Amino acid sequence: MRKKILVLGNSNVDFVFRIPRFHHPGETILAESLVTFFGGKGANQAITAKRLGGNVHFITKVGNDLYGKSYRHHLIKNGLDQKLILKDKKLPTGTAVIELTPKGENRIIAFLGANGSLSVNDLKRLERYWKGVDVFVTQLEIPFPTVEKGLKMAKEEGALTLLNPSPPVPLPSHVLSSVDFIVPNEVEAQYLTGIKWKGDREIRKMAEKFLDQGVKNVVITLGSKGLFFKNRSEEVWMNAFRVNVIDTTAAGDAFLGALASGLSENKPIREVLRFANGAGALATTKLGAQPSLPSRRDLNMFLKRIEVGKTKRS
Ligand code: RIB
Repeated sequence: MRKKILVLGNSNVDFVFRIPRFHHPGETILAESLVTFFGGKGANQAITAKRLGGNVHFITKVGNDLYGKSYRHHLIKNGLDQKLILKDKKLPTGTAVIELTPKGENRIIAFLGANGSLSVNDLKRLERYWKGVDVFVTQLEIPFPTVEKGLKMAKEEGALTLLNPSPPVPLPSHVLSSVDFIVPNEVEAQYLTGIKWKGDREIRKMAEKFLDQGVKNVVITLGSKGLFFKNRSEEVWMNAFRVNVIDTTAAGDAFLGALASGLSENKPIREVLRFANGAGALATTKLGAQPSLPSRRDLNMFLKRIEVGKTKRS
């Protein structure tokens, strides 16, 4: 039987402005196009794990507006349970403004909207969905007490917990010690550990600091440089796959969703990391958050075609 993955997180409508370059304060520039996509880290991670064949349950909240209505249909169409798509009566659906350059780099401003009212009481009402959960995934675009409660309930069920600390906020030690996998990018890892990134040595130090704080496994994603994984017994550097980058939005989310899916299948850690690395790479090859999230078939084909780059560094 497939293991149960529970994702708790946000759903956003993304407004993607394609711009020639990032502009300066006080400067006005014209966008080349404006496109709207379904996004939000939580939804992106849940849909990735689902497209990769996971047994996924996704708890989220949308607004009582047209975006909320169409987002609900979209999630249901993607095979997610409508009972877990909550609705805020007053707040609008979460939105994100994404600036995207021709190199595929982005800058994101997210407005929580209804995601900001996903509460501890909501989780108490949905407590039965934690029953039998094997892998629990969450991020920080919903209220922190809700994240804290979700992790606690997952740990009480004996689940493996994954935290994507994005956008980063200071994390208390009782939260860190309830996390089995923390998955920040290098900017978030810098913020959370207070260690300035100069090279590989600092990346390892950041991972060690998380481990000392009680996290069991650390995966630091390094964009085009790949990833670093560390726990108390193993360390892995893995290069990024080389692909034609169109849009890096949701690459981290595809990574997280694939990590959850791989872990739920009990694959060995190196295989799980390669699987997630491939999902992240594929997500950069198409425009938009959710249109870029890979299916199992696409990911398997991609991994078959491409040689993995695994290197040991000093
Ligand atoms: O990680 C990318 C996502 O961050 C976007 O889809 C946006 O909605 C924000 O949540």
